[in-house]
Amino acid sequence: MDRVRIFDTTLRDGEQSPGCSMNLREKIEVARCLEKMHVDIIEAGFAIASPGDFESVKTIAETIRGCTIASLARSTEKDIETAWEAVKGAADPRIHVFIATSSLHMEYKLKKSPEEVLEQAGAMVAFAKKRCSNIEFSAEDATRSDPEFLKKVVEVAIASGATTINIPDTVGYTTPEEMRTLIEDIRGNVKGAEDVVFSVHCHNDLGMATANALAGVLGGARQVECTINGLGERAGNTSLEEIVMAIKTRQDLAELTTGIDTTQIHRASQTVYNIIGQTAPLNKPIVGRNAFAHESGIHQHGVLANKKTYEIMTPESVGIKANNMVLGKHSGRHAVGQRLEELGFTLSQEELDRCFEEFKLVCDKKKEIKDADLEAIVTHNTNIVFEEEEAGYKLDWFQMSTSNFTTATCTISLEKDGEKMEDVALGDGPIDAAYNAIDEIIQPSEHSFDIFNIHSISEGKDTLGDVTVKVNAYDRTFTGRGLSTDIMEASINAYLKALNRMISYEKKMENAPDSGKTRIKATEAVNGE
Ligand code: KIV
Ligand code: ZN
Repeated sequence: MDRVRIFDTTLRDGEQSPGCSMNLREKIEVARCLEKMHVDIIEAGFAIASPGDFESVKTIAETIRGCTIASLARSTEKDIETAWEAVKGAADPRIHVFIATSSLHMEYKLKKSPEEVLEQAGAMVAFAKKRCSNIEFSAEDATRSDPEFLKKVVEVAIASGATTINIPDTVGYTTPEEMRTLIEDIRGNVKGAEDVVFSVHCHNDLGMATANALAGVLGGARQVECTINGLGERAGNTSLEEIVMAIKTRQDLAELTTGIDTTQIHRASQTVYNIIGQTAPLNKPIVGRNAFAHESGIHQHGVLANKKTYEIMTPESVGIKANNMVLGKHSGRHAVGQRLEELGFTLSQEELDRCFEEFKLVCDKKKEIKDADLEAIVTHNTNIVFEEEEAGYKLDWFQMSTSNFTTATCTISLEKDGEKMEDVALGDGPIDAAYNAIDEIIQPSEHSFDIFNIHSISEGKDTLGDVTVKVNAYDRTFTGRGLSTDIMEASINAYLKALNRMISYEKKMENAPDSGKTRIKATEAVNGE
C-alpha cells in the first residue's frame, strides 16, 4: 500500500500557540510518545526562536533516534545555520526552510517583490542543502498564492535540492476540493515533481483542516503535517488522531497506510493535554470522553446487536482499554503496576513507588479507583512534573473558614528545605484567601492569573478534583496542577506548583540571563534581510 508520512509539529506549531508552552522535560516526554507511536518526522521546534528553543531541538535530536528530526528556519542564512546546528546530531536530520509566496505576505510582511522571493527561496534551499541532504521547503500561505507563481517557486526549490515540498493552508482558508486540485496541478505541472514528496499543512480556522489534509492526500500528497489534539496557531492544525484514523478507516477511498501505531493515540493525547493543563472537549473526535460512548437507547440497542451499526472504529484501535478495571484499598503494588502497564505507562521504579503511595492516599478517601483516576495519579507523579518542584515550596497543612456572610480566612503552613512557614490571610472566598496566604509567605514576583480550571476525573461525589492554574510572568506561562478529592487542597497545590516553576525559571535566568530573551515567532518577518 502507498504510505503517507506523518510529520508531527506539536512541538513547533502547537507549542508556540498561546497557553501551550512546554518546558524541556515536557517536550522530551511528548517526543517519546511520538516516537513510540512511530511518527515519521518530528518537527522539534524553531531553533532560532530563543536559546531555550535551540536547546530543546538539539536535545530531542540527540535523544530520539527512531524518527527524522526537523527544525524550522526562515529563508535566511542565520536561521538555517542555527537549525542545522540544532538538528545535526539527529539520526536523520531535516532542515525545514520556508518563505511566504502570497501577494499579501510578500508585499506587507516581507516587503519583497515576487522575483526577490523566488531568488531567495532558491538560494536558501541551496544553502541548506550544502549542510543537510534532507530539505523540506514550505511556501507559506500557498493556498492564497497565485498558482502560477507558486509553481515557479516550487520548481526552483526542487531544482535547488528540496526533497519534500509542503503546501500550507496557513490561515485555514481553503476547501477540500481546492486543496486536491492544487496538489494535482502542482504535481502534474512542475518539473522534478516526481522526485519529491508533497506535503500538506492545514490550519483549522474554518473547521476543515482534516478534510483539507485528506483531500491533499487524495490529490497525491504523501506527507501530512499535524499535531496531537490539533494544537496550533489560532484554531489549530490538522489533528494527528483525526487524519491517521481517517486514512485507516476510509480504505475504500484509497489504499493508503501510515506507519502509526494507532493504539498509542489515546496515551499521547492524554499526555499532551495533561502537560498543557487542558482536557479534551467531551465530543472531540477520537480522543474526547464521549467519542466512543453510546448513551441513547437506540444506539445502545444497535451496538449490542452489531457494533458496526454505530461504530466506524473501535475504542481499542486508538488505545482505549475495554476493561475499565476497578482497584481499591486492598489492591497491592503488583496489581496497580500491572494495570498501569496495561494502560501504556512505562514508569521507573521510583515513579511507580511514588504513584503507589499516592494511590494509597487516594484510596483512604475514595472507594473505587478507576483507570481515569490512575491516569491522573500518574500524570501528577512522574518525573517531568516532580523534579522541578522538589526543591520548591510544599503544603504542610491548611485551615479554612468560609461562609456566605463572612469574609473567608485561610491559615496555611508551607514547608521548604525542612523549614516551616505559617501565615493567615483573608480573601474573596476560600481559594482567594489561601492564595493570599501563600503570597504572604512566598512573596512571589509580580504575575497575573491566566487560567484557573477545575475538572472532575471521574463520576461520583467522591471524584478526584484536578485543578490547573496558569500564571503569567516574564512573557511566559507557568502551569501548576493539583489532584485531590478535596478541591481546596488541589487548588493550593496547583498554585504552589505554578509558583515553584516560576521561581525555578527565575533562578535559571539569574544563572543564564540569555535564556530569558523574548521568543521570535516563526511567522515574523526577518528585519533587514
Ligand atoms: O502555517 C504555516 O504556513 C506554517 C509554515 C511555517 C509551515 O506553519
Ligand atoms: Zn502552521
